[in-house]
Amino acid sequence: QELQLNLEQIEKGGYDHFMLKEIYEQPDAIVDTYRGRLLVDEGIIRMAGVDDNIEKFLNANRIIIVACGTSWHAGLVAEYIFEEFARIPVEVEYASEFRYRNPVINEKDVVIAISQSGETADTLAAIKLAKENGAFVFGVCNVVGSSIARETDAGAYTHAGPEIGVASTKAFTTQITVLSLIALTLAKAKGKLSKSDYHLYLNELELIPKKVLKALTANEHIIKISETYKDASNFLYLGRGFNFPVALEGALKLKEISYIHAEGYPAAEMKHGPIALIDEQMPVVVIATKKGHYEKVVSNIQEIKSRHGKIIAVVTEGDIMVSELADHVIEVPETVEAFTPLLTTIPLQLLSYHIAVMRNCNVDQPRNLAKSVTVE
Ligand code: G6P
Repeated sequence: QELQLNLEQIEKGGYDHFMLKEIYEQPDAIVDTYRGRLLVDEGIIRMAGVDDNIEKFLNANRIIIVACGTSWHAGLVAEYIFEEFARIPVEVEYASEFRYRNPVINEKDVVIAISQSGETADTLAAIKLAKENGAFVFGVCNVVGSSIARETDAGAYTHAGPEIGVASTKAFTTQITVLSLIALTLAKAKGKLSKSDYHLYLNELELIPKKVLKALTANEHIIKISETYKDASNFLYLGRGFNFPVALEGALKLKEISYIHAEGYPAAEMKHGPIALIDEQMPVVVIATKKGHYEKVVSNIQEIKSRHGKIIAVVTEGDIMVSELADHVIEVPETVEAFTPLLTTIPLQLLSYHIAVMRNCNVDQPRNLAKSVTVE
């Protein structure tokens, strides 16, 4: 048994939990994801799965993304990225709803299935249905040789390495990385981005791992914030645009591992319901990076403040305006708006991790949850 324990400690590489190890692996994991694909010096992206099937993507009327859980959130981020860069309409579906809804699909559709494990039963069933209806099905999986990887017509692996913690972390950011590479490839092929913008995005994507590393340095500060709010019974997460899905993902992470009820909302929807919940007991995590509806988010923050909610804001380095309003700010480095989710997600992962640890929860194996859900 002692041997077993030691083995596990070695596997955790000095970290207390797999989840924390995997959070810290993200800078390297993202490099592994784009290695050999993002060729900044040559000014190109090389992805065999996409390049070999480029006509299928270019002739598609739309892209339908199917996934579950955190992978579904990555799909939502991808929707914003695909539409922004490549101007292709995207729909994002819960695989479980899609498969039972009698959806309209045909050979002009491209379906992208996103799955860390590649074994999720609902996602697998959704792609079988899409194939039966003639759609071209592309997989974004982490586990090599998994069922979804084998069932799809083509695909791109995330190469994030094994993810052991049940709560997904590095799978999420590497999925967004792969999907960004695909979106940029299609944008270029369709002529939807100027040469200079395309190069700017390539450069920015290459810089993301260093910026994630910087974002991780907020850890000690996040531990202090976690101490303050570890006994809260509810949390609200708000974001707009590219960071709306990050708010959903932040709330999911907290629910999954700390068992605190949390909801993610588009910031502007707050006035249609959640605002009724805000009082001095309610911590509200707001993603308020400089780019993307910044002023609008600032006015949402003012609305929370006037109702005495506690504000934890994720801001761009050097931000002044939000710092004056919020109870706590967590800084992330600046990047282009489309890639902000890769940075804003990091403090939210750490926040839920530390709160869960402080509440003595089983971080790596939360109750009632499984890493890979092979039943429907
Ligand atoms: C489970 C896991 C989640 C994961 C979801 C989808 O619920 O606990 O972390 O996001 O399944 O899994 P997949 O392997 O398809 O990405």
